[in-house]
Amino acid sequence: MNITQTERPVTLIIGSSGQLGSEIAAAILNEYPGKTLVCCDLHTDSTPDGAEFETLDVLDKSSLEAIIKRHQVREIYHLAALLSVKGEQNPLFAWRLNMEGLLNVLDLAVRHKVGRVFWPSSIAAFGPGTPRDWVPQLPVMDPRTVYGISKLSGELWCQYYFQRYGLDVRSLRYPGIISWRTPPGGGTTDYAVEIFHEALRCGSYTSFLQAHTRLPMMYIDDAVRATLELMQADAARISVRTSYNVTAMSFTPMELAEVIKLHLYDFRIDYREDFRQVIADTWPAVIDDQVARTDWGWNHHYDLPALVSEMLTNLATTRSSS
Ligand code: SER
Repeated sequence: MNITQTERPVTLIIGSSGQLGSEIAAAILNEYPGKTLVCCDLHTDSTPDGAEFETLDVLDKSSLEAIIKRHQVREIYHLAALLSVKGEQNPLFAWRLNMEGLLNVLDLAVRHKVGRVFWPSSIAAFGPGTPRDWVPQLPVMDPRTVYGISKLSGELWCQYYFQRYGLDVRSLRYPGIISWRTPPGGGTTDYAVEIFHEALRCGSYTSFLQAHTRLPMMYIDDAVRATLELMQADAARISVRTSYNVTAMSFTPMELAEVIKLHLYDFRIDYREDFRQVIADTWPAVIDDQVARTDWGWNHHYDLPALVSEMLTNLATTRSSS
């Protein structure tokens, strides 16, 4: 039978060249071969085989609308944003990109009857008033970065669009995401990505966070799986329409270095904190994600030893083949 495009569920990924967008695109193509995938970003180095690429600035609402109409998009993953560190370097632009971008997506999704939207929140939505350990699903939230303010506001806008317009928008509060295919991208948790590159390049790393700064983290494969599982879950199981706490582990730079040393015996770490320490100090150390586990069955697969082993193996392979 000939399947025409209108009969196929068309998925749009906005921010498809980034850390999460590129991996989610690859996973969708791999796991749902029947899906038509359209990838959008300001530029691309490579689009996965089987996807179409459209150049898009998410602030350009009319171009986004044209793409949604042209492809009859039925599902959107909106992943374009400035992270915490880049956001502090340009607060007003970060606010504009993160908020106006989201509102463009939400508004057009309602207008063009897009069935489902994914948008990521972050541990940056928490603040110094949030408990540091075992942060519940709905604690005090008083973010101090513009990135965090945009995430908290975005969560509330997602909930608003669900309640007011019935838009099936779903979200996760990602912890620090550790991955090897894309370079670190302007976040406070990115020390835990840089450290692997430097360990393999020169055998040492200077951490911009203090030795004992504990933050929630997750390996990229778990983050991608969490995202796709949330998007596949029966709508009746989604009780949270702001954003779900999700986590896999929490560690400090010193603890991470100790596990790296089990593989690279001569690895050395030292510590020279900078302004990013101030950001990290406002974030929690340990998240309670029981609601996600109960509602739609979230369960992480990678702990700290597995994460370190995957990162070193994959980066070493990439380095030796380049
Ligand atoms: N990884 C992000 C950052 O560090 C937090 O969500 O900005």
